[in-house]
Amino acid sequence: MPERLNGSEKPIAVFDSGVGGISVLRALIREMPDENYRYYGDSANAPYGTKRLEEVRRLTVSHVDRLIAEGAKAVVVACNTATSAAVRYLRQKYPAVPIIGIEPALKPAVLSGPHPNVVVMATPMTIREEKFHNLMERYLDMAHIIPLPCPGLMEYIEHGDMQGKELEQFLERLFEPFEKQKLDAVVLGCTHYPFVSRQLQSVLGNAVMLFEGGPGTARETKRRIKEAGLLRNGARPGRVCFENSADSREKQKLCRRLLATRCYDENAFYSL
Ligand code: DGL
Repeated sequence: MPERLNGSEKPIAVFDSGVGGISVLRALIREMPDENYRYYGDSANAPYGTKRLEEVRRLTVSHVDRLIAEGAKAVVVACNTATSAAVRYLRQKYPAVPIIGIEPALKPAVLSGPHPNVVVMATPMTIREEKFHNLMERYLDMAHIIPLPCPGLMEYIEHGDMQGKELEQFLERLFEPFEKQKLDAVVLGCTHYPFVSRQLQSVLGNAVMLFEGGPGTARETKRRIKEAGLLRNGARPGRVCFENSADSREKQKLCRRLLATRCYDENAFYSL
């Protein structure tokens, strides 16, 4: 996007370790269809969730530095892992830019209950970090919360493999240790996972409710952008552009496919 764009015409940058943040972008577009969006996925360096904290922070900060330098009016870190590694630092570095992060949707999963047994699926780093421990602590007296690290799952979505036997077996193995009929809610605490929610629902059964953080993040983004006086007044419809460090035609195609996929029943998600 050219730098001469001013104020509200400037794009909202949406950043993720790969293509997963498109689940958040979809929610943003539903919430604010008039905005211009610049989506950047760092698929060349993905996965982030199995890396060291310092490396994820370094990668995230360097991409966000560039997105802001090139004119983003706000940044959505549409990655739970990158949020827990870098969002606090980024907010200190750029106090004048709205920077919105994402966290696992544990609050709606617990409060829309009674949901006595809640599983939180996320990357190993998200689950390890202090941010998640603080979040979990707030709801521990209301539900039995079970963190479930899922290394290897985001790769299916990165490769565009969102259905099939292999994925089904992977998901079956993940939930093997659980008595599925005792689970009430599952939080999709990584932005890649909503793209396999149909498969998850069929492995878990329809009684289990799935929750994702995109819609809440989109509402918070709108609130912050409005507060900053940066909402775009849509004389013309907003535009979406995709960029990816992997820079291949396949990735571009996958991004557009994910944006267009109706990957879950939106009414099945409870939002606070
Ligand atoms: N999409 C990212 C998240 O929400 C993680 C995927 C990765 O491991 O890179 O945490």
